[in-house]
Amino acid sequence: MKIAVLPGDGIGREIVSQALAVLNKLGLPMETAEAPVGGAGYEAAGDPLPEHTLALAKAADAILFGAVGDARYDTLPRAKRPEQAILGLRKALGLFANLRPAQVYAELAGASALRPEVVAGLDMLIVRELTGDIYFGQPRGMRDAGANGREGFDTMHYNEAEIRRIAKVAFDAARKRSKRVCSVDKANVLETSQLWREVVTAEAKNWPDIELSHMYVDNCAMQLVKHPKQFDVIVTGNLFGDILSDEASMLTGSIGMLPSASLNAQGRGLYEPIHGSAPDIAGKGLANPLATILSAAMMLRYSLGQAAAADRIEAAVKAVLRQGLRTADIYTEGTRKVGTEEMGAAVVDRL
Ligand code: IPM
Ligand code: MG
Repeated sequence: MKIAVLPGDGIGREIVSQALAVLNKLGLPMETAEAPVGGAGYEAAGDPLPEHTLALAKAADAILFGAVGDARYDTLPRAKRPEQAILGLRKALGLFANLRPAQVYAELAGASALRPEVVAGLDMLIVRELTGDIYFGQPRGMRDAGANGREGFDTMHYNEAEIRRIAKVAFDAARKRSKRVCSVDKANVLETSQLWREVVTAEAKNWPDIELSHMYVDNCAMQLVKHPKQFDVIVTGNLFGDILSDEASMLTGSIGMLPSASLNAQGRGLYEPIHGSAPDIAGKGLANPLATILSAAMMLRYSLGQAAAADRIEAAVKAVLRQGLRTADIYTEGTRKVGTEEMGAAVVDRL
């Protein structure tokens, strides 16, 4: 199994090295090769996604990704900014299906900003389309708008094939869960969403055992904090999914807990925590490595055919939480505050 390791920027390196230690402990036949990406790619090769990095990613069975982004690069032209690396990888590898599970571990229900009884037992999955929408739609740009100064414009765009294939992923995922899909759109305002709703509804006919509902994105944002346990699988577009998955992460206590998988039509994938590079705490040993460790578990399950090993990692994470270990982001009174390394080492110990 060949794994491309792309730590990236900020806390990326610290968290990825803990995930690698966990993977190593499993003793599976695994080959890893590392390459710079994001700001690190720009420093190394003048490009956030250097050619060599992309080639490595393309040749690998799976990609373990840390995070990209640093305010230092905000003034560069867009094509040179760190975020282009992850967007470029998603596009180049056709990683259209982004799975973002949000699970509340019983031990962390008290760490959520919501009351424990609202979130306890929550287990939902956001299926976010990842290679279309306003993120990639053309035309986009900035231009002169005469007396009004400049104007910026982007294009929200989905075709039927793109909508259908992500709907299938969501229905298929729901089949292995509690068989309910909520499709989230803004069909009361947007043409793109009107088409989205029509296509998802039509595809649902092929999945008679799955119950499909629709919700407007603004209402969904509200329902997520009002009664999150009503949701099982949410399927939505790239932009709405970006926003709703950050919101859902807070139900679980911390964005430092949420892993993700980004899969292409062949099931090859990129695995990354949904949080970013957190430059404010980078290098301080404070970051929570669990989202990355759980992303490594998803990698074993979805791309490497090692479901049993994935189960073992997830059980080890639960055990460590039960033991009372907490990084600062999930710390509550009466638990033991630990740093990045100690948390990673505890998971390795458990394994
Ligand atoms: C995410 C991130 C990315 C996105 C950024 C870093 C480009 O927020 O993976 O959710 O917007 O998709
Ligand atoms: Mg995001």
